[in-house]
Amino acid sequence: MLPINRSKTQARRYYDRISSFYQTLTSSEGGILLQGVERLAVQPGERLLEIGCGPGTGLKLIAETTPGIEAIAGLDLSLKMLRQSQRKQISPIPHYIQGDGAHLPLASEAFDALFSAFTLELFSEEDIHRVLGECRRVLKPNGRLGIVSLVGSPRTLSVRLYELAHRLFPIAVDCRPIPVADLLEQNGFYIQTAEKTLNWGLPVMITVSTKRHY
Ligand SMILES: C[S@@+](CC[C@H](N)C(=O)[O-])C[C@H]1O[C@@H](n2cnc3c(N)ncnc32)[C@H](O)[C@@H]1O
Repeated sequence: MLPINRSKTQARRYYDRISSFYQTLTSSEGGILLQGVERLAVQPGERLLEIGCGPGTGLKLIAETTPGIEAIAGLDLSLKMLRQSQRKQISPIPHYIQGDGAHLPLASEAFDALFSAFTLELFSEEDIHRVLGECRRVLKPNGRLGIVSLVGSPRTLSVRLYELAHRLFPIAVDCRPIPVADLLEQNGFYIQTAEKTLNWGLPVMITVSTKRHY
């Protein structure tokens, strides 16, 4: 896994700066987010948190496809991203939290479902373990974790060129492919469904996992 060579302050400033046009910039990811939301299949009466909710594309899809959802929360490092999400007037109104996914300021076993798309790849390897540990903590015993992430296999030319861009421009190209299935298993999750798709030729994995009970 490639290192992350930028600080969280740099990440926050970068996402603040691009918040107003991020959704247009990443419009090709809309169908993949929808697929991730459909696989997670949030049910009426459930409580959901999205980590790295950005401008609220995922939160809006979840709210629209889950009538009767009890509560929605979105956490992001960038306040300006959260403001973009607020402008979408999602119903029920999400609870927004500006914070770091590696240290969730939330009670244990508070959520039935967690969702995170194109965000786990932004954390250092050490922090990915922290994020997944926090996911285990805030999920109810039978809760589900939906992760959408860039992966490095198959190691196509697109993957290698993208990784080169990540090395050259660590702030702007901060996402990098990660071995998401291995990371989930190492951190006490049991993968229920996993599918691969492509975004601009880059492999993306859509997973839904549950907590492994020891
Ligand atoms: C690549 S964007 C994905 C946004 C959204 N999930 C989507 O797919 O449209 C990554 C998001 O993660 C947020 N982020 C970056 N580092 C974070 C951290 N340490 N904790 C929480 N959010 C973070 C960024 O501000 C940004 O909104």
